[in-house]
Amino acid sequence: MTIRFYSRLPLHGETQFIPGDNRNRGDWNRSPQDSTGAVSRFDVGDDFTYIDYLSQVAKAAEINGFAGALMVNAPFGEEPWIVSSALARETRRLEFVAAFHPSHFSPWQATQMAASFQRSSGGRLVWNIIQGGSDAMQSALGDTLPHDERYARASEFLDVVKGFWANEAFHYKGQYYEANGMGLRGPLRRAPLPLICSAGSSDAAKELAAKHADYYLMLAEAPDVVAANIADVKARAEKYGRAGQIRFGLSVDVILRATDEEARAEAKRVFDEGVAAGTVQIAKDRTGQMSEQHQSRYQRYLGRAINDYDDLFIGPNLWAGFSYVGIPPGFAFVGSYDAVEARVREFAALGIEWFFINGYPHLEEIYRLGEHLLPRFRDRQPVAANDLQPVPLVTGPVGPGQQLIHEDRHVS
Ligand SMILES: Cc1cc2nc3c(=O)[nH]c(=O)nc-3n(C[C@H](O)[C@H](O)[C@H](O)COP(=O)(O)O)c2cc1C
Repeated sequence: MTIRFYSRLPLHGETQFIPGDNRNRGDWNRSPQDSTGAVSRFDVGDDFTYIDYLSQVAKAAEINGFAGALMVNAPFGEEPWIVSSALARETRRLEFVAAFHPSHFSPWQATQMAASFQRSSGGRLVWNIIQGGSDAMQSALGDTLPHDERYARASEFLDVVKGFWANEAFHYKGQYYEANGMGLRGPLRRAPLPLICSAGSSDAAKELAAKHADYYLMLAEAPDVVAANIADVKARAEKYGRAGQIRFGLSVDVILRATDEEARAEAKRVFDEGVAAGTVQIAKDRTGQMSEQHQSRYQRYLGRAINDYDDLFIGPNLWAGFSYVGIPPGFAFVGSYDAVEARVREFAALGIEWFFINGYPHLEEIYRLGEHLLPRFRDRQPVAANDLQPVPLVTGPVGPGQQLIHEDRHVS
């Protein structure tokens, strides 16, 4: 099993401090008058945008040995495919795990866009097929299908995309989509189909993953909950003959320091600032916009009296405090280098291969993780000369069973 680390780019604002705090860099928290660089105020001569900052984060991630970056799609955030496409040309090896909702594009549009992305980046696009938040949030965006039907539509969407990808003339008639003879042709046909990730703890979400996903992604929870989810999704994948194919990823923030005491002091700072700024109540009020999964997770771990930061440890070194003060996705490994390494190994033993990890601020914490955590998982074999070549594009027709997977040979 190969452990790979992915970062997450802050597509809706940097949050070393509580969201909205003016000390956070970029223009997501600052008032427009505070032109301190990377605030996109071309009108007053600030030639650097927030995307330039994201570019620094992306480069830091690959320099420090991260395999890729999660590009989260929030309705109020930067658009992940556009940002990924811009940053792919500024990076060499980083993969972009770009989130999108099937309602955002037609299957053909997604197919063609992805093929061009693959050609321009050497096959570095990974898809995270998302289903959005609550029905109310989806409806605000103009998507009125109820929860389970959204997954049925996503399943058809992926049938059609895979059909377009593998055939020059694909025909399909489903409940939501139809295709009458198109498919990738010419040079686009040589592009590798992106790896597919999906998430969600509802039955519908797990069925979608079982049928279509290469990686099923989870948010960090207690290890026994994660283990049960893995077993459940594997059992469902069996029905589709895919039990051996589906793999697993975990998204978890990290407060990594030389000692447990230093890490806990930072957790306390975040907690105290959230309480002082009143964001605890705001986070609670926002649960209505979350998916049912997020709401029940919130209730399970946070729906009780909490008096101090250390009431928020839900297991050894596993802290729910970011969620409590309103910084998603919310749960973090908090501890010394040794302690966080032990937690990663614990979850890897359950079957997690991809770890989406981050600290705040992203740029500095990527260096810390790259210097103190990732080397502990690095294969110390010398790198073969041809491992350093750019990733080749696959030649000849590529079907769903022939995806280009780049294993990171430097991390074991
Ligand atoms: C690692 C991970 C990343 C996710 N990224 C996004 C995202 O970028 N945008 C989004 O709207 N939802 C995202 N989600 C939410 C899922 O797509 C899904 O809507 C959610 O898990 C609820 O699913 P359920 O209601 O079917 O259980 C993510 C979930 C996980 C575990």
